[in-house]
Formats: sequence, structure tokens, C-alpha cells
Amino acid sequence: MDLGLEDFEILLSREAIRERVAELGSALAAEYKDRDLVVVGVLKGSFLFMADLVRHLGPKVTCDFLRVSSYEGVASTGNVRFDFDLTQPIVGKDVLIVEDIIDTGLTASFLIRALAARGASSLRFCALLDKPSRRRAEVPVDYIGFTIPNRFVIGYGLDLDGLYRNLEHIYALKPEIEARL
Ligand code: IMP
Repeated sequence: MDLGLEDFEILLSREAIRERVAELGSALAAEYKDRDLVVVGVLKGSFLFMADLVRHLGPKVTCDFLRVSSYEGVASTGNVRFDFDLTQPIVGKDVLIVEDIIDTGLTASFLIRALAARGASSLRFCALLDKPSRRRAEVPVDYIGFTIPNRFVIGYGLDLDGLYRNLEHIYALKPEIEARL
């Protein structure tokens, strides 16, 4: 079934997102006040969220990016690998990983383990969205924008086959459409 934007409805408006990102930004600005912080965006989904979030932080912030992809190995264990990696060592640095959404938690748990092994002096995880009902790996998430039900979402960085990342609102697949899939 080919899905189009008409099959989706707004779940979180641009205004709700803006307000919540500002709240997360001030909490982070307070936590990292006067500290050098490396903000690590997980591409591609986090690019809008990260762009808005870092504008709330102080001057001693550097931005870096990585990209991972997942593939299924042994039945219930997802495997994740780096497509590309950070451009700087993070040993002794305060690091904040910024992700669009935590679904099964496999990506987040892989990233936390991988970056912790590089000797960061602190490592925190911030996700705009959390779908806890689908969790397969426990992840210590420090900052969450919104906890959402188990619905497929697009917009504000999140895609469907590469499309819709540029939408300003976050949309969820309409339940009647989901029921037909
Ligand atoms: P996890 O390893 O299952 O937690 O995967 C997280 C990744 O799956 C996110 O970074 C997204 O790229 C993708 N993802 C999970 N749920 C959705 C969704 O509802 N819409 C778009 N992408 C999603």
C-alpha cells in the first residue's frame, strides 16, 4: 500500500514541539553551564531537533554527527553498525547523544555502549520521542521530549522512505489506515 501525507494526522504541532524543545534546551543549558559539551547528532532523523536544541545552549558547544544502520542478525537481537563516525575523539569530554526517536532501544543501547567505551567523562542521551511499548533493550535515557503511543510517525526529521523529514509538525499514521496495513 502506497502511503501519502493524507494518511497521516498531526500528533504534535510545531508549537508544541517548539515549546518542549525550549524546555529541554534550558534544562541542558543549566546542566552543562560553563562546560565544554560535544553534542552528537544521530543522522539523519535528529537533524532538525538538534538544530533547534543547540540554539538554546551556551557558547562552549561543539556539534558532531554519526550515522548508524541496523540489520537483523540472530532472530530477536538487532545488530547495529556505524555508516560513518565522529570526526573527533571524545575521551575526557562531556557528550550528549541526540536522537529522534527511541523505538526498540537497540540503536540507543548500541550507541551508549560504543561511545562509553571511548572514555567520555560523561555521556547522556536525549531523544525527542520515546515509544516505550516496543522496547527490546533497556536504555537509560536522560532527556525525553515526548512519550508517544506505538504509532508510526513522520515529520520534524522523521521519515517514511526518506520523505517527510522537512515537515514542521509530527504526524502519526491514522489508526484506520494502520488497521488496513
Ligand atoms: P530503535 O533501534 O528501534 O530504537 O530505532 C530507532 C530508529 O528507528 C530511529 O532513529 C528512527 O530512524 C527509526 N524509527 C523508529 N520509529 C519510527 C517512526 O515511527 N517513524 C520513523 N522512524 C522511526
